[in-house]
Amino acid sequence: MSRIIVTTSGKGGVGKSTVTANLGTALAMQKRKVALVDADFGLRNLDLLLGLENRVVYTALDAVAGQCRLEQALVKDKRQPHLALLPAAQNRTKESINPEQMKGLIDVLSKTHDYIIVDSPAGIEMGFRNAIAAAQEALIVTTPEVTAVRDADRVIGLLEAHGINNIQLIVNRLRPEMVQLNDMMSVDDVLEILAIPLIGIVPDDERVIVASNRGEPIVAGRKLTLPAMAFLNIARRLEGEQVPFLDLMAAHNNLVNRIKRFFRS
Ligand SMILES: Nc1ncnc2c1ncn2[C@@H]1O[C@H](COP(=O)(O)OP(=O)(O)OP(=O)(O)O)[C@@H](O)[C@H]1O
Ligand SMILES: [Mg+2]
Repeated sequence: MSRIIVTTSGKGGVGKSTVTANLGTALAMQKRKVALVDADFGLRNLDLLLGLENRVVYTALDAVAGQCRLEQALVKDKRQPHLALLPAAQNRTKESINPEQMKGLIDVLSKTHDYIIVDSPAGIEMGFRNAIAAAQEALIVTTPEVTAVRDADRVIGLLEAHGINNIQLIVNRLRPEMVQLNDMMSVDDVLEILAIPLIGIVPDDERVIVASNRGEPIVAGRKLTLPAMAFLNIARRLEGEQVPFLDLMAAHNNLVNRIKRFFRS
């Protein structure tokens, strides 16, 4: 049985594609067979985040149109043998594919993969409807900002109306120093508003951007960084493991204390 999960948010730019690339890679590193589906037709990103952009020959649309077999459109990641990407078409619009066609593609993928993770575009229009069409579960990504949280709330309602009730939350780009100064919502604040189970907290860290720019998700990096650990933990929780949440506030306080001690000594 494969799990079909959509990564979505409502608001743009909160980290859906980054989460999808890192979770897909983390699960593939645990030898799960993973297919990532880029549902952002017209503005695809996942190929770049995974460093696979030069290997895209066909797209999901070619497979739908019968111009290639689905297998031919799937890009296998040479660095992660268990990971494959189904790229979106770049020079077309979100209306160029419909929910039924998307379901058809994912149905075929589900026969040969443990996980199918669909990267949703921002918004709640056609692209969103395509992305959620086949999903059984959803990961809501939000940053701790009021606008993102309000959009996430709306999207949770839409998912439930669509019959998707297994919805878990990822709070991305948390900045403990801002939370401490009351300049940013805390994870508890976000949870109080959204009232769905939390599956991960990812710190705001520029190394995530550096890794993305290099086309190598941070979880696959040689160094085990805090954001990499956060993504790896989410993958383990998806697998059903009980993994305590990283205490990012404590990590921040330790750092501040070390700096204070340094200046005192
Ligand atoms: N934890 C993080 N720390 C620092 N930067 C991050 C983090 N997560 C994401 N980013 C950066 O935020 C930007 C937006 O991320 P991403 O493209 O994944 O968002 P998105 O929700 O998929 O956007 P869109 O709605 O346009 O599809 C990127 O530059 C990415 O590198
Ligand atoms: Mg994206």
